[in-house]
Amino acid sequence: MTSQSFKDEVAAIVVAAGSGVRLGREIPKAAIEIAGVPMVTRAVQAMFAGGVDKVVVVAPEAWVERFGHFFTAYPDRVKVISGGLMRQDSVRLGLAHVGAAGIVLVHDAARPLVPPFVVDRVIEAVRDGAPAVIPVVPQVDSLRRIRRSWTVAVDRSTFLRVQTPQGFDTSTLRRAHSNAGDKEFTDDATMCEAIDVPVTTVPGDGLAFKITDPMDLVLAEVIARGDS
Ligand code: CTP
Ligand code: MG
Repeated sequence: MTSQSFKDEVAAIVVAAGSGVRLGREIPKAAIEIAGVPMVTRAVQAMFAGGVDKVVVVAPEAWVERFGHFFTAYPDRVKVISGGLMRQDSVRLGLAHVGAAGIVLVHDAARPLVPPFVVDRVIEAVRDGAPAVIPVVPQVDSLRRIRRSWTVAVDRSTFLRVQTPQGFDTSTLRRAHSNAGDKEFTDDATMCEAIDVPVTTVPGDGLAFKITDPMDLVLAEVIARGDS
């Protein structure tokens, strides 16, 4: 492979090392099956369908081997590694395994139904020169700001909801993570902003919703069954 084609290579870090406390199941959230397929497997398949070349799956330490069994069909394209305490630790650990890929996506395994066209959109925006890209959807509910004992309405049209995969020029994301130190960030785009990298938005999609609470799992199951 020439250095030019390395630069064109797209890697994804699928973060799956959380335990899923809010779902309250025995097994880690990413291992839970949706219509018979583990969440993390669906997330990885969506990455490939959207144009990603290789994936680093970041798993809970005690589950690395079992997660590996999910991906025996992709021995050369998927690597499973052990995650960290916070999400950003898991991303940082994943970054050490993306090799020379010029573009890197960071995706939550907890968003297993992300449509491949969203993945493709994020990749294309980075290819077009944006160093940090996030998929966003409008805020549909009314919002209020909490002020001590009362609340104040805010204009929801000035807010966007952020999804994953987020896409980056790999060297930019590496810089952002080395600058982050111990400071906690909600996501990788925010970390890039902290080093003055502009963040570009592309349209996300409702299907990229994050499975957080038990009701989200019910919804995902219904959607996935409808698809099959
Ligand atoms: N994640 C991770 N490493 C961590 C924490 C989270 O890789 N130390 C991943 C999760 O596996 C998930 C994504 O980050 O795919 C988004 O996190 P979240 O939805 O909060 O998942 P959990 O942390 O597993 O859930 P909870 O907060 O309810 O425990
Ligand atoms: Mg969490």
